Amino acid sequence: MTQPLLEMRQIGKTFGSVRALYRVDLRIYAGEVHALMGENGAGKSTLMKILSGAYSADAGGEFIVEGQPVRIANPQDARRLGIAVIYQELSLAANLTVAENMMLGNEQSKRGLIQRKPMAARCQTILTRLGADFFPQTRVATLSAAQRQQVEIARALCSEARILVMDEPTTTLSARETDFLFALVKQLRREGLAIIYISHRMEEIYSLADRCSVLRDGHYIGTLEKEHITAGKLISMMVGRDLGEFYRATPKMRPDGETMLTVNKLTDGKRLQPCSLTLRAGEVVGLAGLVGAGRTELARLIYAADSASAGEVVMQGRPLRLRHPADALKAGIVYLTEDRKGLGLFLDMSIAENINIAVLDRDALPGGLRRFRPGRLRA
Ligand SMILES: Nc1ncnc2c1ncn2[C@@H]1O[C@H](COP(=O)(O)OP(=O)(O)OP(=O)(O)O)[C@@H](O)[C@H]1O
Ligand SMILES: [Mg+2]
Repeated sequence: MTQPLLEMRQIGKTFGSVRALYRVDLRIYAGEVHALMGENGAGKSTLMKILSGAYSADAGGEFIVEGQPVRIANPQDARRLGIAVIYQELSLAANLTVAENMMLGNEQSKRGLIQRKPMAARCQTILTRLGADFFPQTRVATLSAAQRQQVEIARALCSEARILVMDEPTTTLSARETDFLFALVKQLRREGLAIIYISHRMEEIYSLADRCSVLRDGHYIGTLEKEHITAGKLISMMVGRDLGEFYRATPKMRPDGETMLTVNKLTDGKRLQPCSLTLRAGEVVGLAGLVGAGRTELARLIYAADSASAGEVVMQGRPLRLRHPADALKAGIVYLTEDRKGLGLFLDMSIAENINIAVLDRDALPGGLRRFRPGRLRA
């Protein structure tokens, strides 16, 4: 292979008594999507924060860009080297326009005056290249999460980034938006950028990654080339043992409360094989599995957020007809989503409104008026 665009050597990081990274080595090439995987807390985000200058590494590590040793002591250093991180939304100024956000810190000026016209033209060129459906003058506050992410990417291209870091970029995207992002990532790869892609979702790794490196408990474990990436290999690298050794029978301990909920052979007819479980009063049932195993899918079927193709949900002996989450809610089933910001909450409404939102129609007055006074919480 040719010379790496970026090489990290012996990068370590200690937070007080927590050792987050131990002498990690990583090589990134131009024109590749390099997936970074590992269980929660493995050190992926910490490594990327060091790369972007947000954290400083412990002494002894080295960064090499195109064969030259470089210093990354702060975000400006990283930016000058062409390293950009796509954050979910936090780094955009919602009250400014797309162009202003793209240009923050990259303003073109002539004799101290900001050159608005050429800036807007440059932004438009980049937005067109990305296939964005909004304009340089659009205010960021009016954009969806997916569009804001495109602004982040556009901003990176505006500062001529060559290395893009995406840390779990699809967590707040719908399936369609995810497809669009994937097409974009593939386009940027063709244009010769290096993309470091962090995800817990195996399907994303299969469809995007040219290579995949694994961290475990702060240690670099290894890198797989595309043709060697399989779920079995990745998982054993991530957890440090083969799957067969992973399960151990434990003596059964069950509370003897009344059976509240029985799920019988529930399936979506697609990815989820028929699943059954029972839940008693006073009991917490854990639903374990690796990413992509179908835990969320099962929970969404029980709550009728997705529709089941077969199987039943029985509540205290009574089969439920669940066609809609409202039916589940009426039966006393509540779903707290993993994507609290994206699906669980209305972020621009108050806490009181959020708490009451699921029971608005139960509490509505005739004619559909809301009986709602802030400060009078019904929890
Ligand atoms: N600012 C911090 N202060 C103290 N410890 C931290 C800090 N940031 C991360 N850590 C610790 O460093 C380790 C690595 O965390 P990191 O966030 O990098 O993991 P990750 O691989 O990104 O995990 P996830 O998949 O959950 O995002 C963890 O043990 C974490 O608790
Ligand atoms: Mg992380």
